[in-house]
Amino acid sequence: MAAPYVPPSTEGKPFVPAWVPPPATKADLEFANLHTIDLALLDSPDEAVVNELVQTAKTAIKEDGFLYLVDYGISLEQLHRQFSLAQYLHSNISNEDKERLLWDPESGLFAGYKPRFGWKRQAGKVDGIEHFNFYADEFKSLDKVPTCIHPFMDEIRAFSEYLTGSVNRRLLKLLSRVLELPDEYLWEKVQAREMPVNQGYIRHALFHPLIEETKSASGGLRMHGHCDYGTTTMLFSVPITCLQIWQDERWKYVKYNPGSLVINIGETLEILSGGHFKATRHRVFEAPEDQRHEQRLSIVLFNASEGDLQMTPAIESPLIQREGCLDYPGVYSEFKRMREAGLPVPTNRQWREVQIANMREVTDTANNRIGADQVVIDGKKYTQREFLGVKVVLPV
Ligand SMILES: [Fe+2]
Repeated sequence: MAAPYVPPSTEGKPFVPAWVPPPATKADLEFANLHTIDLALLDSPDEAVVNELVQTAKTAIKEDGFLYLVDYGISLEQLHRQFSLAQYLHSNISNEDKERLLWDPESGLFAGYKPRFGWKRQAGKVDGIEHFNFYADEFKSLDKVPTCIHPFMDEIRAFSEYLTGSVNRRLLKLLSRVLELPDEYLWEKVQAREMPVNQGYIRHALFHPLIEETKSASGGLRMHGHCDYGTTTMLFSVPITCLQIWQDERWKYVKYNPGSLVINIGETLEILSGGHFKATRHRVFEAPEDQRHEQRLSIVLFNASEGDLQMTPAIESPLIQREGCLDYPGVYSEFKRMREAGLPVPTNRQWREVQIANMREVTDTANNRIGADQVVIDGKKYTQREFLGVKVVLPV
């Protein structure tokens, strides 16, 4: 059995007010239908139980690219402590620290503090989203994190280490089994394994209620439809319902499921699996009416592969050998087209850095329109952009 998470002691630390989850929405929304994976079942001595789990994972990843993970070793109380810390960080970060730790996405990293003025270092229009992003460097030196959070870095580190080294490792074991590869294949050959956050990062995000000016420019959109570029993304399900996924050719909300981890597959695994795993398109949209006045606190761990990884299908997979690679519009097909044309495909690091450096603002009305970034395909609006020769087409 996998060992459960054991957090460091809170004794002798400053008082941290408990995060109180806001009430779930009562709105009658169209929710995405997602599968649930009970990760503890992977340790079952009953082979039939494990096989069924692998089959469920296979279906979930093929159909949705999104799933709920439960029983992964962290209790609701332990999870809420992390939300309390994230809330504490955003309530207590000083103006001096906001300036000193200001991020610079043009560097290809989101490391540090994001103010609520867009996705550049230079302040743009208000988007109402604040972050603190902890990459490996933020764990190496206390100078890189807000002073208010210093007493709690042991807890943020232990939590991140558990997610990276236990939860994600077990999840990748399950996904390796779906590809019929050795258990440690994705962990050892694909995933960056440095502790505590590999080559990815953990994000404490705070979405403030939309102001009218932002809403009129963005039409209620808070983050554009996109795919994540890493291996797996681990989002803790939160009551303020804003996450949407593209399912059945339309956007559907992801329902609050207390304590569960919402997992989505990144583009690295879509390419590695020859299209058998789907990097699902998702976006962040305005909350339903009854939650619009609330702040949305969110914690996300973005897992990344080795930066030098050349992303090509794992042809040793018996599943790929038997069924071939699956072509559908997406990054797998684009990378394939480039390889076949003899064009250089980006490494994983290049791919993630170019996208971070070129985030488009939801308030950018000059580019977010037909004739600029947007095109109409079969009567639906899509954003079409190109990065390093790779065409990316995403529903608006
Ligand atoms: Fe995402």
